[in-house]
Order: sequence, then structure tokens, then C-alpha cells
Amino acid sequence: MIKLHDLYFKPFISEREIDAAIQKMVDGVVADLGDEVPVFIGILNGSFMIVSDFVKKYPKSCEVTFIKLASYEGVKSTEDIQRLIGLTQDLTGRTVVILEDIIDSGNTLEEVHRIFENENVKQLLIATLFYKPEAYNKDFKLHYVGIEIPNKFIVGYGLDYNGLGRDLPEVYQLKTTQHMTNIVLFGPPGAGKGTQANFLKEKYDLIHISTGDVFRFNIKNETALGMLAKSYMDKGELVPDQVTIDMLNKEVEKNADAKGFIFDGFPRTNAQAKALDELMDSKDSQIDAMVALEVDDEVLVKRLLERGKTSGRADDADESIIRNRIKEYYSKTAILKDYYATQDKYFGVDGVGSIEDITVRLSAVIDKL
Ligand code: IMP
Ligand code: MG
Repeated sequence: MIKLHDLYFKPFISEREIDAAIQKMVDGVVADLGDEVPVFIGILNGSFMIVSDFVKKYPKSCEVTFIKLASYEGVKSTEDIQRLIGLTQDLTGRTVVILEDIIDSGNTLEEVHRIFENENVKQLLIATLFYKPEAYNKDFKLHYVGIEIPNKFIVGYGLDYNGLGRDLPEVYQLKTTQHMTNIVLFGPPGAGKGTQANFLKEKYDLIHISTGDVFRFNIKNETALGMLAKSYMDKGELVPDQVTIDMLNKEVEKNADAKGFIFDGFPRTNAQAKALDELMDSKDSQIDAMVALEVDDEVLVKRLLERGKTSGRADDADESIIRNRIKEYYSKTAILKDYYATQDKYFGVDGVGSIEDITVRLSAVIDKL
């Protein structure tokens, strides 16, 4: 996902798909024109990329030139088309192929036809890489269309949003749902995860989803998923990831207008991390970061023994049990650290210091997401 100015865009059409679409257009033009030398005319600014890639693929002689028109303001097409650079050569008797990056309302195309009205060209052919049939409200024939797309704003491959995005080699689509900030919060036992999660959810208006709590809630309320989960637990088996994911999905859907989520206790395996990515993807969203509180083992042991004195939790009272839990945490989470690190989404945060200091460190990470 990318951010341009104030808007978020998600990957939509890959370089490979664009390449294949352009090849198809080239093949179509060659099939129609044979050895005739066409004049390809790109409509600036957006068409510079398609023109370049198109003529490189074009297997025969051709001429290339540009005209420059402007119509768009922000993410909306306007009727008022400005001619910024016009035709500079005589095209009498020539076959002209217009190369457009995108045809949306067709207003620009109408202006193109107006420009060629008195040029006495042999024929005027229109080729466009992208075409939004739902937005098009003219009758001009489009001779070569690369890819038909829904009526949503896109950027990349020559197309911009207020100046940005033209340089991207692939195409992104505007995200229409609100942007969420989703964090996977990690930390060994005793790192202060619960405390920090409480501060962060207040500060960023996030929903804290602790998998343990979600399980307890579903089982206590005897939901269908709760009963299903319990049937595995009663047999001493692990609850399948899909059941857990389905429970999380329900939590996410309950909070559909949330600003984001803090996932706590999930994922624990690579497969779960992938499943969580798919879940967020289905919500037009994503996991932005795995934030892990890093605390030295000896500090953890001291903290937990201290907590054991008052919490009454048996697993907080015994030093060897504590050490084992910490060891298990590292052996299990190392894989996840790699999973998120390879996506540049792993952020380790020093978890030693005052509660406020640690919140400040965590906030510094979240503010940058
Ligand atoms: P039309 O005049 O409405 O057909 O729009 C044509 C021009 O609007 C294109 O050449 C682009 O400059 C711009 N445009 C249309 N749709 C988009 C889009 O989804 N993203 C970026 N620019 C667009
Ligand atoms: Mg254009």
C-alpha cells in the first residue's frame, strides 16, 4: 500500500500485466497497419510511459510525437480541457494513432477529435492502455484497449494524483474504505504488553483484540465458533487456525468503523500470520507492523517473580517455569519476527524503563506508520 498526499492506494495492476496489455495493443496495431508508417501521438502528461514502452515494442518503422492537454483536478475529470502544446507537424494523409494512458469520461478524447477535425489525416485510430467503460459517456470508437478497469481512481504508470505517482512502474487503486492502522503487539511474558496495549488503544483509538479474551468470550457465551473451539480443546487438540481466524473476523466485523486493531496473542505461527494477512486483505486493509517489546531475560524474571507475590498466578511464582515460558516465547516468535522483518514491518522497542517512556517509544513507531 502507498500514500500520496492525503490518500491511500493499494496495488492493482502489476508491471507484468501492463506489459502484456501493451504487447496485445502493439500486435493489434501491426495487424491493421502492416508496413504503413504511422504517427503515434501521445497525450501528455500521462502517456509518457505507455508511449515509451509501446514504441519500443513496435516492430516496424513509426514516428512519435506528443500533444499536451490537461483536464484533471485532483481525482475528478473536468469538462474544461486546456491545450497546452498543440500539433507541430503536417499530418495530411497520415495514419495517426493516439496513445492514451487512460480514457475516463472521454472529454479529453473529444478534444482530440476536435484537434484533428481539419488535419486531413488518412485515419485517426485511438489506443488506450486503460479504459473505464462505466465512466465513458462519448460515442467515439476506441480501436485498441489494453485493460478495462472499474470506475475507480488509479495512479502509477504515468497517472498521477495531484502530481504524485506518475513514476510508479505499476498501477495502484484508490482505497475507498477508511485507512486503518493495524498492529501485532508482541512481547515476552512480563514485558508489559497488557499495560501498553491499554495506553495505545486509548491514544490511537484502536480496538485491542486479545485472542485469549476472544476465546474465553466465545466459549463462555457458547457461540457456534466457541463450541467448535471447545470441541477440539476437550479432545486435547489444537484449535484449527481457521476457527481462530473466523473468531477474529467476527471481532473485526463488529468494529467495522474502527481506526485499527491491536492484535495480541495472534499470530503465533507463519501460517497464522498469512491467514491474518488474508483476513486484513479481505477488509481492504493490512497489518502495518509487528511491534515487539524487548526486555532482557533477567529483568523479566525479576518482574514476574515480583508480580507472582501479589497476582497469585502459579506460573508467576516459580523461577524455572518463568524461564521456560520466556525461552518458549523466543523459540516460537523468532519465525514471526522473520516473517514481518522481511516485509520491513518488524519494530523492536526497548521495553525497559518507566511505563510513560515505553509508551513514548511505541508511539514513535506507530506515528510513522
Ligand atoms: P477523460 O477526459 O475523463 O477521459 O480523462 C482523461 C484524463 O484524465 C487522462 O488522460 C488522465 O490524465 C486523467 N484521468 C482519468 N482517470 C484517471 C485516474 O483514474 N487516475 C489518474 N488520472 C486519471
Ligand atoms: Mg492523459
